[in-house]
Amino acid sequence: MTRIAFSLIAAVLAFSASAVDLSDKQRAAIEERIQPAGEVCLEGDSSCGGGAVAAAGSGSRSGEDVYNAACMACHSTGAAGAPKLGDVAGWADRIAKGNDALYSSGINGIEGTGMMAKGGCMNCSDEEVTAAVDYMVAGSQ
Ligand code: HEC
Repeated sequence: MTRIAFSLIAAVLAFSASAVDLSDKQRAAIEERIQPAGEVCLEGDSSCGGGAVAAAGSGSRSGEDVYNAACMACHSTGAAGAPKLGDVAGWADRIAKGNDALYSSGINGIEGTGMMAKGGCMNCSDEEVTAAVDYMVAGSQ
């Protein structure tokens, strides 16, 4: 919910900032164009979760994109005890388990912790989750 609200607010802010010098006609045309995007986001739960990433189009997203959309909330702050991106000491023991173990944790989650399956990103493919794991590991050693 928060993320949906945030993307909508961000979209509105970005729009009003860039619309300052437009004529009424141009503004109306833009409003018409952005309207369907708002509807899609409100109705389609899966496309909303990804926010800006989902808007970038279909196809496989990069590890960095997936991290920013689905993992950062916990892995940049350490929320719920998540190992932070860039925390070399915090990742060392995990990295020592090997990539397969980390991929499995990313895809299946870790029971009893805040690490849900796919970090809660149910529209992420397994490949996108492993790419995000690779991105975090590469940035944390
Ligand atoms: C709601 C918070 C949350 C989100 C969102 C989240 N994680 Fe995590 N993650 C955690 C926590 C908490 C842990 C530590 C769990 C533990 O070992 O106690 C963790 C641990 C991990 C680990 C280490 C697993 C291991 O075996 O040591 C990986 C890899 C990981 N997360 C990947 C991801 C990826 C990829 C995403 C995004 C697609 C993601 N996480 C999103 C909370 C989160």
